[in-house]
Amino acid sequence: MSAYHVADARNYIKLDAMENPYSWPDDVQQAWLTHLKSCPLNRYPDPAATELTAALRDSNAIPDDVGLLLGNGSDEIIQILLMALPPDASVLAPEPGFVMYRQIARSLGLRYRGVPLLPDSFDLDLPAMLDAIETERPSLIFLAYPNNPTGNLFDAAAMQRILTAAPGLVVVDEAYAPFADASFLGQLARYPNLLVMRTVSKLGLAGLRLGFLVGDPVLLAQLDKVRLPYNINCLTQSTATFVLRNPQFLYEQIGWIREQRTEVMTALMALDGIATYPSSANFILFRVLSKSADEVFAALKQQGVLVKNVSPQGGVLQGCLRVTIGRPTENLAFLNALRHAL
Ligand SMILES: Cc1ncc(COP(=O)(O)O)c(C=O)c1O
Repeated sequence: MSAYHVADARNYIKLDAMENPYSWPDDVQQAWLTHLKSCPLNRYPDPAATELTAALRDSNAIPDDVGLLLGNGSDEIIQILLMALPPDASVLAPEPGFVMYRQIARSLGLRYRGVPLLPDSFDLDLPAMLDAIETERPSLIFLAYPNNPTGNLFDAAAMQRILTAAPGLVVVDEAYAPFADASFLGQLARYPNLLVMRTVSKLGLAGLRLGFLVGDPVLLAQLDKVRLPYNINCLTQSTATFVLRNPQFLYEQIGWIREQRTEVMTALMALDGIATYPSSANFILFRVLSKSADEVFAALKQQGVLVKNVSPQGGVLQGCLRVTIGRPTENLAFLNALRHAL
């Protein structure tokens, strides 16, 4: 194994980590600082995160009879899910996908099987998935919707087939939900083995570390047994509650990012020497056709722009780079640097 590598982004235009590039309006920041004063740092945080849980239920329309589990980022929820499995359990996910599924499963000694996505569309290879379900009998399947690093939404009918065929849990990871117009939250009543995972990271609160899992309360009560009691610190609880009660500015920023996604996509499609892939997330995956992706990545970096080089992951990602949508000036700087690099 190798550790999850995070590039040093100091002094770069940072378009590598799917962050919201905007800061907060001054009045919101002032109100937040006042709100934070009531945070008792000498005490352990509320282990049930009562106020935050209520705010999450309200803002995501999660009824009281549906379970809700909070994590220190959805990364921790992935860890909680996998820690709750028996030692001989098998875990399945399409690949390429979010690397932490494999990383955490492997570090816990679980069996992990990645099933390749279709090479051109990056959609699910349904027969291959059903076949793997049949042979592996996985306790848990991860489906990221939209998927990282490809940016697309998988075919919803194929996902429903997987939900029906799966002998265990299916976690639909909706980290990029703010940028997509589709969700499986509405399917929870239909599929008892479905759990939907979300995060506030891509919404604009990556520094807080808060993710949540929604689904059958009986299942979530089992997962709660492996959760550390104070996993959501009091500054996160207080800040997230504050923002979820005043979210308008974030949704305005999401609107800007979605507009910029269209702008960047149009500009990329007009360039010779690359191929783009449709995105329902706040990033775009593109393939460099005319040169090596490593060369283009290095040339972008040399011009002060940091994107994610996913080419070393190999397979269908060979030759691909992933760019996060930034502010308009950052996106222009990226596009200019890319024109020079190609
Ligand atoms: C698909 C997917 N799931 C989960 C995460 C982790 O998010 P969090 O910041 O909540 O740990 C990411 C982060 O990039 C992601 O791409």
